[in-house]
Amino acid sequence: MHDLYLLEAHQVADLSNRAPDAELAAVLHANPSLRRFLVARCPSIGSFLSRLLTDYGPAAADELHAAEESLVWELADWIAYQRAPEAYDAQAKVDWDISAVTTVVSLQDKIVIDCGAGTGRVAFDAAPMAHHVFAVEPVAKLRQFMRDKATRLGVDNLHVLDGFLHSIPLPADQADVLLTCQAIGWHLPEELQEIDRVVRRGGMTMHLFGAPGATEPDNPLHQPLLTHGYQTDVHQEGDVHIRRYWKRM
Ligand SMILES: C[S@@+](CC[C@H](N)C(=O)[O-])C[C@H]1O[C@@H](n2cnc3c(N)ncnc32)[C@H](O)[C@@H]1O
Repeated sequence: MHDLYLLEAHQVADLSNRAPDAELAAVLHANPSLRRFLVARCPSIGSFLSRLLTDYGPAAADELHAAEESLVWELADWIAYQRAPEAYDAQAKVDWDISAVTTVVSLQDKIVIDCGAGTGRVAFDAAPMAHHVFAVEPVAKLRQFMRDKATRLGVDNLHVLDGFLHSIPLPADQADVLLTCQAIGWHLPEELQEIDRVVRRGGMTMHLFGAPGATEPDNPLHQPLLTHGYQTDVHQEGDVHIRRYWKRM
């Protein structure tokens, strides 16, 4: 359970959406110090955790082990960001190709934002074409990964920033192109508002989803994005399928 002490405040805030209730309750009953840590990290989670501990009692020893495994499995991506960003980066490359962007909008000499940049696989592919790329990412370990990689590769036009899609630390009308890859929908109305703020008039915003999201008919973001004026299709490059949504601002 030590890995749960690595969670960042915004991840703790999102626990009620991500963690299975009964399993989280079992783990917290058995680890009171973990509950104190989570509340210290993100005080607003306190009432949710109290309710959970009232609704679900402690687990028997054999059930506790299964609950721990299930909880860690559900949060595996968050733990991988902290423990093994290199492995996450290598595995994530499988279903990405920059042509999903450049067949709709040129990045040549543009100011580009990659929001929810992760290990920077979109940002690093954009950098050789762009004037500047701002890679916005809330997880500190992933920001460090990108900074180290940029130094190692001598990429000097990629700037790594701490922020969220609903709170981008850049002035208004800054970007020619804003991209997200598997990184939208935590606070959709605020995110769309923030995109309207930072992308200049005439600029482009594009949201990408790799497999299996590319072909899923039930992406809950599909209708809201179309309603907000986005176009969509599935871009295919070899075996790679990418669902893309784009909008001229
Ligand atoms: C599924 S990963 C995608 C990473 C990268 N875009 C890629 O395609 O490899 C989602 C990323 O969004 C970040 N993230 C989480 N909450 C976010 C938010 N509210 N705004 C922006 N990024 C967020 C996560 O830390 C993670 O790096």
